[in-house]
Amino acid sequence: ALSVAVLISGTGSNLRALLEAASEPGFPARIVAVGADRDADGLAHARDFGVPTFVVPFRDHPSREAWAEELGRRLDDIAPGLIVLSGLMRLLPPALVARWSPRILNTHPAYLPEFPGAHGVRDALAAGVSQTGASVIVVDDGVDTGPILAQERVPVLPDDTEDSLHARIKPVERRLLIDVVRRIATGELDLAAPAHT
Ligand code: GAR
Repeated sequence: ALSVAVLISGTGSNLRALLEAASEPGFPARIVAVGADRDADGLAHARDFGVPTFVVPFRDHPSREAWAEELGRRLDDIAPGLIVLSGLMRLLPPALVARWSPRILNTHPAYLPEFPGAHGVRDALAAGVSQTGASVIVVDDGVDTGPILAQERVPVLPDDTEDSLHARIKPVERRLLIDVVRRIATGELDLAAPAHT
């Protein structure tokens, strides 16, 4: 089975959905570790599933590069076949991206290239668009600029708040993420191939 390491910063609800999918008999990937840049609430989901966790606290390091070096050592030890950033709210420096790309994915709560960055849901709401979406991409050196592996539209409703809209997007993100991981694991989706669309 494809071994997957997941990195989070927050509540890890998408991580939990991936853990549930991966625990189904016959799912072609398994989650081998969950890491975080702080003591994230979502680490509890990994513990529920008996998956090892690790924390490399961003704040304990003098620079992004020093933090990423330590994170990189942990990932090298784990040696996963795929890394999934599932709500990791830190940019990874080019050296770490280069080490893993294209076997490093990110989920994003907008229809990229629309509304990249840390506030994809808020920015879509502020722009007054009638639809936004969810995307799963390969991480590259830009901010949410990597090749798009899957994406789907999600409507914005007139009374939406950031929370209500994000709550409508997340189930779509989960479904796309689980499907992309499955297709990579079966070889149906080849990350090494030049075009992903
Ligand atoms: C998800 O919507 C994810 O796409 C987003 O954070 C949320 C994490 O939710 N990531 C980004 O915005 C990255 N720029 P979760 O912790 O409940 O899975």
